Amino acid sequence: MSSQFNLNQPMGIGIISLLVLIGSLFLVSVSTAETTSTGSAVSGEQSIQLPEPDHDDAKSLDYALETRRSIRDFEDKALSQGDLSLLLWSGQGITNTTSGQRTAPSAMRKYPLTLYVAISDVTAIDPGVYAYRPADHSMVKYLNESGKDTVLKALGQNQVLSAPLTIVAEANYTCFQGTPMTEEEYSRFAALEAGHVFQNMLLMETSRGMAGTPFTGFNVSSVENALKTSQDHHVLYAMTAGYPKK
Ligand SMILES: Cc1cc2nc3c(=O)[nH]c(=O)nc-3n(C[C@H](O)[C@H](O)[C@H](O)COP(=O)(O)O)c2cc1C
Repeated sequence: MSSQFNLNQPMGIGIISLLVLIGSLFLVSVSTAETTSTGSAVSGEQSIQLPEPDHDDAKSLDYALETRRSIRDFEDKALSQGDLSLLLWSGQGITNTTSGQRTAPSAMRKYPLTLYVAISDVTAIDPGVYAYRPADHSMVKYLNESGKDTVLKALGQNQVLSAPLTIVAEANYTCFQGTPMTEEEYSRFAALEAGHVFQNMLLMETSRGMAGTPFTGFNVSSVENALKTSQDHHVLYAMTAGYPKK
């Protein structure tokens, strides 16, 4: 699996700096942002290279299916970058660099989803909202800490206040333009895909000692305003991630 990611490859024009944390298991780089692979209107200024997903120490799929539960209380402990890397990879990671196919299936391979990560407490990453960019397994900074607080407030669930991070899935319906699909199909297919993506991430959480809860109990317009979504982009689903309170 490690060969799927070109983590040491230069990230294109405009590299500002590279920070290596000696003695740790992860690499953080800061560079000029481009856009997410889905073409979402993300215009952040920094990207953070996530560490390569570590596929050792995974619990079995059967174990994850058997023991997954929705957990809403979290330890007061930062999520590691390694666990964040696994989480995002399980949701939207690219598993075939030639075709661009990902961990989750996608109708007509349109991949309409962007995963926004509202980070409150992840090791060595500033709080804020970041967009996951599958193409190079990185995150693009999208909103600062106060923007993140606005998104969490719009989500309106207590669990997001103690969770180290909350992931919000947004669908870009313009991905489907030019296909024979109808508007009703745009939303149905994107929602079905979000279900696959979130189940992957929920099972990954259980497999690695994390936990969280998927949720839809929020006012979509408020969250879209807080996230400053573009026209034809729609928020579908959210979930928390952290370490379960013992
Ligand atoms: C589509 C969907 C929406 C959900 N929305 C919420 C929510 O708004 N708030 C919440 O606390 N849990 C939410 N949940 C989690 C359910 O309450 C939870 O899955 C259910 O109680 C079963 O428990 P389990 O996930 O531990 O098996 C949602 C689950 C799904 C699938």
